[in-house]
Amino acid sequence: MRILGIESTCDETACAVVENGKTILSNIVSSQIDLHKPFGGVVPELASRRHIEVIIPVIDQALSEAGLTLSAIDLIAIAQGPGLIGSLLVGINTAKALAFACGKPLVGINHLEAHLYAAIMSSDAPVHYPCLGVILSGGHTALVLMKDIATYELISETVDDAIGEAFDKVAKMMDLPYPGGPNIEELAKEGSPHYFTYKAGQVKGKPYHFSFSGLKTAVLYSLKGLEPLSQPIKQNIAASFQRAAFEDILKKTLRAADDYGVSTIIFGGGVTNNKTLRQLFKVSSDRYLMIWPTVDLSLDNAAMIAGLAYHRYLDNAINPLELQPLVRIPFTNTLTRSTQISCS
Ligand code: KG4
Ligand code: ZN
Repeated sequence: MRILGIESTCDETACAVVENGKTILSNIVSSQIDLHKPFGGVVPELASRRHIEVIIPVIDQALSEAGLTLSAIDLIAIAQGPGLIGSLLVGINTAKALAFACGKPLVGINHLEAHLYAAIMSSDAPVHYPCLGVILSGGHTALVLMKDIATYELISETVDDAIGEAFDKVAKMMDLPYPGGPNIEELAKEGSPHYFTYKAGQVKGKPYHFSFSGLKTAVLYSLKGLEPLSQPIKQNIAASFQRAAFEDILKKTLRAADDYGVSTIIFGGGVTNNKTLRQLFKVSSDRYLMIWPTVDLSLDNAAMIAGLAYHRYLDNAINPLELQPLVRIPFTNTLTRSTQISCS
């Protein structure tokens, strides 16, 4: 079964063709980093406009790299949310139009579930459910219990900033270009992780929840009086911030894995690209099978959308023209199913 996936939730316009949930025939990503860089973050209106300009060429390229025409596609999958409303509307309306014009079924996919599926796609290891899903992206930080490929229970989320957002904001404080995550990782390599005694926040009565805004403010205060920042100071800030953030994620993830009795941990989202994070988990525990996405599947992409759609398209049938963008999607089994559509 050949599935054409489309992704436009934030600042990447992407299209991919994936066969049977696993074999990637093409995976095209048009990034908007240069567009948003001067503003130090994503400007939603600019993002939507760029999606409109590039979405058709990106779809054409994905089909041509796969050596296929639309007639050879069995299903169209679209990232339905969560994301920016303007960005979502461009992808969803394009997908609806394609499905309607070509008489193809259409399925809406949860972008966050797809981030976790990206790791499953990247690995040949069999997944033993239940497992723990760890979502670390620019907009989300969450632990979810994955009971099977379609059934999720939210264990925890961030009460303020997402982890990627915290990386981007700390980078901005040090005048590093957007997106900040990779730049912080690079700077941190030469810094001392214990130079500053930063700590991530704890949420009273919610041991698995995350809070990064206090950590971000601690970084801001430590900059005061140090300006102009020397390169060694920037390196120490980056290393200390990264250490504090990742130690917290490690501690809460391993605690949840233990308490929920899982043997497998699955990671998803752009921050999982960070090699220091992967190494920290690797050396901290050998009790769990840890499944990570490959680098090209860790950042936003459409292969993960097309891949997951293979496991979802039969779930619930509704008219594809009724598909609506979902800016927020609670992590519940019911909602996951109600977003599935197909037409015959
Ligand atoms: O999953 P993603 O591509 O988009 C969202 O769905 O949000 O994640 C983007 C986030 C950005 O905040 C970016 O700074 C962060 O992932 N990121 C990293 C690294 N690469 C990307 N954070 C830390 N270390 C990295 N190497
Ligand atoms: Zn994402």
